[in-house]
Amino acid sequence: MTRTINEWLETSFDRASDYALVTGASSGIGLEYLKALAALGCPCIATSENADELSLECALLRKSGAPQIVEIVSDLSTAEGVENLVAGIEGFHVAILVNNAGVGMKGGFIDHDPGRYAALVGLNSVAPTLICRHVLPGMIDKRQGLVVHVASINAITPIAYNAVYTASKAYLLYYAYAVAYELRDTPLVFQIVLPGTTDTPFHRRQGAAPQALFMAPDVVVKRSLQRIDRLLCVSNRFDRVLLPLVSALPLWTRTALGTYLLKRRLKFKDDSKDKATEDESRDLFVTGHPREMKP
Ligand SMILES: NC(=O)c1ccc[n+]([C@@H]2O[C@H](COP(=O)([O-])OP(=O)(O)OC[C@H]3O[C@@H](n4cnc5c(N)ncnc54)[C@H](OP(=O)(O)O)[C@@H]3O)[C@@H](O)[C@H]2O)c1
Repeated sequence: MTRTINEWLETSFDRASDYALVTGASSGIGLEYLKALAALGCPCIATSENADELSLECALLRKSGAPQIVEIVSDLSTAEGVENLVAGIEGFHVAILVNNAGVGMKGGFIDHDPGRYAALVGLNSVAPTLICRHVLPGMIDKRQGLVVHVASINAITPIAYNAVYTASKAYLLYYAYAVAYELRDTPLVFQIVLPGTTDTPFHRRQGAAPQALFMAPDVVVKRSLQRIDRLLCVSNRFDRVLLPLVSALPLWTRTALGTYLLKRRLKFKDDSKDKATEDESRDLFVTGHPREMKP
């Protein structure tokens, strides 16, 4: 049965008392969720780290007739930031949670400062877990709720030069899947979105730019909200075809393919990465881990 966000809102959301909480609402995919939910008349709580961008976007939405939007500025990569958000939503009933805030970090594993990895895992993996843990009891009590986790197509395979980001999204995919299974006998709706390359500031923040097979963020959100009954929402049609094929490959080959595709989809400012692309395209013809192949 097709279930759109409109159908769900009719039966499961009270616009007089319920709220939609969107993390990372100041730009890209999160901003498109905020716009879409506000356009559907949902009071929203919008959160991001950067106060200026967030208040600018919320002001524009209010001007265009959006219902109530509460702004909360918080650095969700830290435990204190998550606590600050949790304190800020005290007294609001969150009926929709869009766990979207995230950052990437491309480059060789040993090239980045370890503290940045802790912040990335904090934002991409720990914060969505804790926020979800905080709002779920209220949803379970009311027997209504929609939880959308924005993971990534990268979650389906390890990817070199993107190791920690990919692992943080694999965590989110597995954790969110397991919780959805635990609560399968409740009326709560869960969705895990796996966007492919999407044209947002996300890549610029990492010194890269989308160059092939990329999507607009509003299309990612449209595909998610038009079928909220889909537990797994693979945003890009090309990725939908690729997913079952990739999943059948040995992990080593999958890693080489994922690394090769990432390089093809993005243009890095640093040209030295081209050498790595050549190596990975050669690796695609290796069918298993070299050590596994020895007799
Ligand atoms: N773009 C892609 O190709 C792509 C593909 C697959 C998955 N995704 C996932 O989609 C989600 C949204 O990404 P996007 O492409 O829309 O990127 P984006 O435009 O860079 O948006 C990221 C959002 O996260 C917020 N954020 C960043 N660091 C934060 C922090 N420490 N605390 C709180 N909020 C923070 C940003 O707010 P500030 O502006 O305040 O920092 C911004 O609102 C991410 O989880 C990303 O991993 C993106």
